[in-house]
Amino acid sequence: MIRRYDFGHPIETGAVVSKPPVCTDDMPRFAVVQEEGRVSFKVVMGEDDLVFGLGENVRGINKRGHIYRAWNSDDFSHTENKSSLYASHNLVLFSGKSGVFGAYFDDPGAVTFDLGYTRGDEAVITSENGSLTVYYIESESLIGAVKEFRYLIGRSYLPPKWGLGYIQSRWGYSSENDLRTVVAGHRSRHIPLDMMSMDIDYMEDYKDFTWNSERFPNLKRMISDLKDDHIRVVPIIDAGVKEEAGDPSYDEGMEKDYFVKKADGKVFVGAVWPGRAVFPDFLREDVRSWFGGLYRPMMEAGVEAVWNDMNEPAIFYSEEGLEAAYQQADAMRGTNIGVNSYFALKDAFTGMSNSMEDYRRFYHVIDGKPVRHDKVHNLYGAMMTKASAQGMKAYAPDKRYLLFSRASFIGAHRDGGVWQGDNNAWWSHILLNLKQMPSLNMCGFLYCGADLGGFGCNTTEDLLQRWLQLGVFTPLMRNHAANGTRDQEIYRFRNWEAMRDTLTVRYALIPYLYSELVKAAVKGDMMFRPLAFDYPGDDMACRTEDQVMLGDGCMIAPVYEQNARGRHVYLPEDMLLVRFRSSEDYDLVPMKKGHHWVALQMNEFPLFIRKGHVIPMAKTAEYVEAIDTSSLMLLGWLDKGTAITLYDDDGVSADIDLNAGLTVIDVQVKDGAVKAKAQGKHIDASRIIID
Ligand code: GLC
Repeated sequence: MIRRYDFGHPIETGAVVSKPPVCTDDMPRFAVVQEEGRVSFKVVMGEDDLVFGLGENVRGINKRGHIYRAWNSDDFSHTENKSSLYASHNLVLFSGKSGVFGAYFDDPGAVTFDLGYTRGDEAVITSENGSLTVYYIESESLIGAVKEFRYLIGRSYLPPKWGLGYIQSRWGYSSENDLRTVVAGHRSRHIPLDMMSMDIDYMEDYKDFTWNSERFPNLKRMISDLKDDHIRVVPIIDAGVKEEAGDPSYDEGMEKDYFVKKADGKVFVGAVWPGRAVFPDFLREDVRSWFGGLYRPMMEAGVEAVWNDMNEPAIFYSEEGLEAAYQQADAMRGTNIGVNSYFALKDAFTGMSNSMEDYRRFYHVIDGKPVRHDKVHNLYGAMMTKASAQGMKAYAPDKRYLLFSRASFIGAHRDGGVWQGDNNAWWSHILLNLKQMPSLNMCGFLYCGADLGGFGCNTTEDLLQRWLQLGVFTPLMRNHAANGTRDQEIYRFRNWEAMRDTLTVRYALIPYLYSELVKAAVKGDMMFRPLAFDYPGDDMACRTEDQVMLGDGCMIAPVYEQNARGRHVYLPEDMLLVRFRSSEDYDLVPMKKGHHWVALQMNEFPLFIRKGHVIPMAKTAEYVEAIDTSSLMLLGWLDKGTAITLYDDDGVSADIDLNAGLTVIDVQVKDGAVKAKAQGKHIDASRIIID
């Protein structure tokens, strides 16, 4: 059940596609308090209530006990004390003795979610705008609540099938030669690879939609050569456009008045990678359609995939902010700088980035009227994604495009995926990556993944190895690192063969992962679920945060501690452990419900298949288009027959007809023998365990 409540004068965010009529009665369960221009929603929580939602954020899957803030932030330190990352996904669900309920707070401005932080038994959600639409949700189950919500917000973006391939990336590949060398490093060692991302280094002076012609002398030829090798390039596009007369995007945007302005009517200037930059008003349809059109020449050159960045928007400094800091420094010149003034001076410069003062300095135009940026801040990245999606769709309407963004708001889940931003080469970030997956799925974001190996700091060989073992299961699988960090490509390490073997499992599982991804998108379901969703009556499962359900039949439990050679796993039911070393080399161990220590050497990682389910594996391949789905091996542990449905298609057509693409794999168990069949496929059931 979903009910809609409007407060004040809500701004249309585009998050919701099927709006129920406005209710005028009191909202169930939430006490509403309106004061000082804000509106708060209070819920009393039972001692054992669980709280889910908030998509991409820090801390647990169960969000209880901390305070979060919807405020898209360019923050490269994803530590527990933070309350915001790059996204605002304002869905909260409560589950406890009084049932399952929650709400989506459709507000493009700052919203705080005090989920038992100030008072352990109270959740208080506060909209600073004081104007928003709240969609109250009630259901029999957590997954039921998510499905109702997902129906409200519309179908999730689906990438082409090759988007599930492995992406190698680095900020610092600065020439055609760099790209070709890394591709050869993979191909010559048979390390699977489908894409190479291209970071800001490819641009001319960090100007969007430009290519440095010295370092990339023949772009078209490079793209087509790489495509012959089954590699696609994924260039980055940033939100800020360099302020430089003569640059076509800048000139046209200025001429047509497309950039955000200050109250005095002057174009707002903030610095990003190119130094002084201006910001398209993505909240305007005409600006989106212009910006989307700028992708066309890239696509004509053969690009089929793009990542959008710095679209919170990140602002290193504004001219006003910089001036204020200079003045502060000048005033202190020659004085004895003691403790307080030292920190004030430091803060004057560090606090210049992404500052609230700057976000209050400029305006968007909505319905012909100026709206101050901070009121709609969290929409900016989503609207950039919308612009890009529009442009990419317009170029090739019948084909799927690959697009992922850093900043997001619900609604952008229909246009693209997200990567989880600038994490670090920290073990705790493997766990954070895992925990964010189900929360992102609740909010509609299915094509997601974190920078494997870690973006900031130097990775270590074992960290990359363990992180890849989680990345095997995330739809977006990308190894990415910051400029200046040590080389992080698989083949740079002593144990590259073990990591290559890990990737063979990814490619063998793509038929299953792709099928689960498409089904989750079309049915409004989750590919990754907290255990609490599948085992609501099992308190141990409900409180488990380092294991996650995957698709219909599986659970994953990555190793995320340095020097560990195994881990504790809680099985909420009987499951088959598949201990992978490669797609050809794995152990099958039936395990009973309960607690287990699972030994896992560095080159080993587990997948747990629920008893009674089977999952298909193809023969591995070095790129997605080479995967042969006509011949499949089944893994599972059965005591009676079962059937699964597997979705497949050409992997690129924009139209997706779920029913047309489903194949039933029927597994019969008779007299201790197993037989499996599926139309048009060769099915090998010899590794199914029966009891
Ligand atoms: C941002 C992005 C990161 C990228 C860098 C340079 O920090 O999050 O992925 O490498 O900018 O473009």
